[in-house]
Amino acid sequence: MSRVLSGIKPTGKLTLGNYLGSFRNFHNYQAENETFIFVADLHALTLPIEPDYLNSNIYDIIAYYLASGLDPEKTVLFKQSDIYEVSVLDTILINYIYMGELSRMIQYKEKVKELNNAKIGVGIFTYPVLMACDIFLYDSDIVPVGEDQRQHVELAHDIARRFNARYKGEYIKLPHTALPKAGKRIMNLVDPSRKMSKSDDSAISKGVIYLEDNEKTIRKKIMSAVTDSDTKVIYDPTNKPGISNLINIYCAFKNVEVSEVEKRFEGANYGTFKKAVADAVLEELIPFKEKFNTYRQNKALLDQIFKDGASKARKIADKVLDRIMKVVGLR
Ligand code: TYM
Repeated sequence: MSRVLSGIKPTGKLTLGNYLGSFRNFHNYQAENETFIFVADLHALTLPIEPDYLNSNIYDIIAYYLASGLDPEKTVLFKQSDIYEVSVLDTILINYIYMGELSRMIQYKEKVKELNNAKIGVGIFTYPVLMACDIFLYDSDIVPVGEDQRQHVELAHDIARRFNARYKGEYIKLPHTALPKAGKRIMNLVDPSRKMSKSDDSAISKGVIYLEDNEKTIRKKIMSAVTDSDTKVIYDPTNKPGISNLINIYCAFKNVEVSEVEKRFEGANYGTFKKAVADAVLEELIPFKEKFNTYRQNKALLDQIFKDGASKARKIADKVLDRIMKVVGLR
């Protein structure tokens, strides 16, 4: 039995990218593994965020987790900030990584480019260490994430290796990334050279499908997706990034291979294909959103799930932290 762990930052409205790249797949792990899924709320503070907005996003995420089929009886569902152990482990492990290594993280480099250097908080720089601590605290083996988080999991792997080599033992478990087959990197529908992101600015936000969008909006966004001047539904991410992105979305929802999609839509025009993509997305999202709304209204239930999850998670976190504190000489 493996330990599986993943989380999402409550920094904005979740997108179709978050859905396909991560939590849609989480419930598949819970039957045969020990699964830990959390809301990465401490990570949400790495950029300025309104307190009420953050708080509301935290509840959205847990309600989305439940709507996607995660069962609190089978999966430990919790909030990162409830686990005080993670902050202690972070304070320890931050000393086992070098400035140069963190400077090479793609997401950090992107933020530096995007923001004025004076606005870069230290938390954005050290963010991957806290993420590694999330992973280590539960002796996680498998970390299901989208492609953009792969580098962070690899870094966690490197920290674990370094720590174990220094203290000559298997004190930290080496984690491995699990990427979904289709949907590991969903692109913006208006600018398919960019990843679809919660924080995309208004100029390209028409290319972002938010899970809270209604049916009409979702359909409209897909029908207006940027394509190319060719007419063939063929997978070619370099020359046909828009169509290839839509093919990925279709494959993920219909659970089919790319070759099957090309065969199904041979001779069809882009309009017909886009309509089929919209139908596939909505067929799954409409009932999913109904479930979400029911859970989201039941705040008492969500609070109870957080409370129970924290107590289960802390039992394990406490043991792992104790082990590491002893190894380094703190206990
Ligand atoms: P976050 O909140 O940015 O994203 C949550 C998950 O969604 C995936 N994702 C995508 N997948 C496909 N296409 C896209 N366009 C797309 N956009 C986002 C991400 O890869 C991610 O899996 N650092 C993490 C949260 C975190 C975490 C952890 C994850 C904190 N600690 C420990 C795993 C393990 C983050 O900011 O994800």
